[in-house]
Amino acid sequence: MINRTIDEKLVEQLKEKMAEGLLPQWVITDPDIYELELEKIFSKKWQFLGHETELKENGDFVTRWMVNDPVLMVKNKKGEIKAYLNSCSHRGTQLCTADRGKKKTFTCPYHGWSYNLDGDLVGIVAGNKIYGEEMVKDDWGLRPIPRVESYRGMIFGCLDSEAETLEDYLGDMKWYFDMMLGRSDNGMEVIGLPQRWVAKANWKSTQENFSADPYHVQTTHRSTVEMGISPEDPLYASYGHQIVMNDGHGLNVITSKTGRSKSAFQSMPQSMWPMFQRNLSEKQADIMERVTVFVGGVYPNLSFVSPIHGTEGEMHNYLNFRVWRPLGPDKVEVWCWFMIDKDAPESYKKDAYRGYLGSFGPTGTLEQDDTETWARIVEVSKASMMKNKELNYNNVSNYLMGFSHVKPDKDFPGPGIAYPTTYVDALSRRMHEHWLDLITKDTVKEVNK
Ligand code: FES
Ligand SMILES: [Fe+2]
Repeated sequence: MINRTIDEKLVEQLKEKMAEGLLPQWVITDPDIYELELEKIFSKKWQFLGHETELKENGDFVTRWMVNDPVLMVKNKKGEIKAYLNSCSHRGTQLCTADRGKKKTFTCPYHGWSYNLDGDLVGIVAGNKIYGEEMVKDDWGLRPIPRVESYRGMIFGCLDSEAETLEDYLGDMKWYFDMMLGRSDNGMEVIGLPQRWVAKANWKSTQENFSADPYHVQTTHRSTVEMGISPEDPLYASYGHQIVMNDGHGLNVITSKTGRSKSAFQSMPQSMWPMFQRNLSEKQADIMERVTVFVGGVYPNLSFVSPIHGTEGEMHNYLNFRVWRPLGPDKVEVWCWFMIDKDAPESYKKDAYRGYLGSFGPTGTLEQDDTETWARIVEVSKASMMKNKELNYNNVSNYLMGFSHVKPDKDFPGPGIAYPTTYVDALSRRMHEHWLDLITKDTVKEVNK
């Protein structure tokens, strides 16, 4: 692996600016920074691969990506979930090109080698006639993804075999996942295929938008106010808490101005409420009775939103998980999953899915609003004025919201550092500091020595 470095001076400058609540804009799409991010973040941290309900029966498979690493994830004959590099061990071509399906073996389209669900090489065209004794089949199975672990049905992979466990990595986020994913007896299920499209955006901006930026909602999504779906109050998305967690994770628990939701448990059917109460702790149930929207992220590139959509009397809740797969410093492939409680009535699931399609994914109005802004961020981040690393305040983004006056609310019932408003840049700042720690670990090059 190439050992990339970053100049000591630049690191000092970045640290200095970030301590002042400022982020130099050139870092967004700088190609050298991008290479460091791949090496220091994406090849070390846990990335979301999919949900267990996408692999219902033995032999089911899906294909995914961990940035540039193709992944073939299968349920083997024993019902275990396995993930391999989706590349043939012979000459390396992509083995499986389908998005999903069911198979007993995978046959390579190039020379026809076949692998079973445990990744073993089980078939060679013309077999032993052409390979001598030095060819030991057992040595040529599929290469496993070094780590695959799951939490509450959410499957993650990691390319670093030395990484901490997924549970340790999720840390405080587990408590919130327990609430969102564990409120129903049978958990959540993915409906349909994950939607997928390419957007002009940098992964840091998209991750920050979901994890830490309810402030954009009243302007970027102004049309929802004009249509009468969102309140006129410019502070409407600020009520609630922003929670800053370990490792750049975090979320916003958005409530109404009064701190109460019009409908408990995010407008899920009332028949399900006793089940929620049974599955949640008192503190979790308290939050679930107040929240209207959960929106947040697991660093580096998994985001989620659990909103309420619809008109009065017909409100629906669902959970949308999305991966921002970097395709370069100014491009992401978005993978977008719709999830809902397995125990919800079928008619509710259908209506919630319709609500999702109208808001998020390629057909969603909110998605289109956001995508437009992200594209403009990457475009202007290439401006020569922004790239000039010597220009001080002319080339920085502002992360000063609540910098000195918003203090944590010690009475918030959940873990993490909770700020009593979501219009605060606390989590964004934490994410960028964490980003700098990661990309500068063992890469700082001393200059002038
Ligand atoms: S590359 Fe797969 S069989 Fe040759
Ligand atoms: Fe948005």
